[in-house]
Amino acid sequence: MTFSRSFKNILVTGGAGFIGSNFIRTILTKTEFSGRIINLDKLTYAGNAFSLNDVVEKFPERYVFRQGDICDKDLVAALFSEYKIDAVCHLAAESHVDRSIEGPEAFINTNIIGTFTLLDAARQYWDGNFDNKLFHHVSTDEVYGSLGEMGFFFEDTSYDPRSPYSASKASSDHLVMSYFHTYGLPVTMTNCSNNYGPYQFPEKLIPVMIEKMLEEKDLPVYGDGKNIRDWLFVEDHNTAVWAVMQDGTLGDTYNIGGENEWENIKLVHSLCEVVAVEIGKDKEYFKKLISFVKDRPGHDQRYAINCDKLKSELRWKQSVTFDEGLVQTVKWYLENRKWIDNIKSGEYLKWMELNYSDRKN
Ligand code: NAD
Ligand code: DAU
Repeated sequence: MTFSRSFKNILVTGGAGFIGSNFIRTILTKTEFSGRIINLDKLTYAGNAFSLNDVVEKFPERYVFRQGDICDKDLVAALFSEYKIDAVCHLAAESHVDRSIEGPEAFINTNIIGTFTLLDAARQYWDGNFDNKLFHHVSTDEVYGSLGEMGFFFEDTSYDPRSPYSASKASSDHLVMSYFHTYGLPVTMTNCSNNYGPYQFPEKLIPVMIEKMLEEKDLPVYGDGKNIRDWLFVEDHNTAVWAVMQDGTLGDTYNIGGENEWENIKLVHSLCEVVAVEIGKDKEYFKKLISFVKDRPGHDQRYAINCDKLKSELRWKQSVTFDEGLVQTVKWYLENRKWIDNIKSGEYLKWMELNYSDRKN
């Protein structure tokens, strides 16, 4: 039998980031949810309160922003009781693999200690009264490690994380499940493949490439460019998370994916064509800028998600083809220069210099 949970006050963590800001907008504008969202975000380099300007304007009563750290036990406990939180959608994380290689400590703190802090605050505030409560944890397919040419990640694939980022996410996943088994905390979890779309911080592959093209700079492809990722439009990730929050089985994890595998180099070629068409240049124009650079240490070869469980149990499906999603994404980056220009501050330039100067062959 299916049922739909209904929530009044959802605590979203990391709601000023890429997926979180899209999640809040989607839930408030495209679902029947009629309650309130409380967004707790530290506003690290990756967080941007401006990403939700439209939401602040449209939903002054139903959207609350609080700047703060998920590791801050007192703050988190106070938020649960001040806003009578009945559901959590936990997205806050340090999320970039290359940064986890440069400096893993923040990943351990936010992704592990932060997740523990939230779980324990939920356990204490709900205090055994778990009716109509939910803690949803947003995780990644990277916890499963790296695939060869064949095979897929299933929900029961053994964990085999290989970067400090994926190890910290794996650790948080285990903590979430331990709270289900030990304390009966009502949890659900999703493990998703690579997202793309509006508001993605321009340190990840697709927005890095778009920005480099617009600046007419080299397009840095790691290694031989043959690593494979499974790409999903961010809104499709969020409709899947919402489906699981409403109807997913407690204590279960659901894989989410695009069923859309691309070698990095082929993706970059396609992106070159989309950007060229959008700004009225010859289709081959940007491909000449492609430059193969030093590989990422421990670079996972291939990710590919099997998401049959989500599709059959919760009747979710992807709504956007990759062609449509890429065009939509490129148009968004072209039309939102103010958002991008705000990011390109000293900190951003420092990271780009550090990451890419190290990689020159
Ligand atoms: P992001 O880096 O764009 O955003 C992370 C957000 O978390 C930022 O707003 C940041 O300010 C906030 N944050 C970081 N540390 C915090 C702390 N200590 N306290 C409070 N807020 C903090 O990340 P994203 O790409 O939107 O990813 C969101 C979640 O989805 C992460 O948990 C990530 O592991 C997971 N995920 C991402 C992808 C992807 O392709 N981007 C795929 C699968 C899963
Ligand atoms: O699979 C889900 C994961 O996807 C999420 O958990 C992570 O938060 C998210 O960052 C993403 O991880 P990846 O490492 O796969 O994403 P990234 O965009 O950094 O890199 C995608 C691929 O492109 C990867 O094989 C490395 C390569 N790459 C990346 C950058 C930034 C390049 O070749 N050049 C680049 O400049």
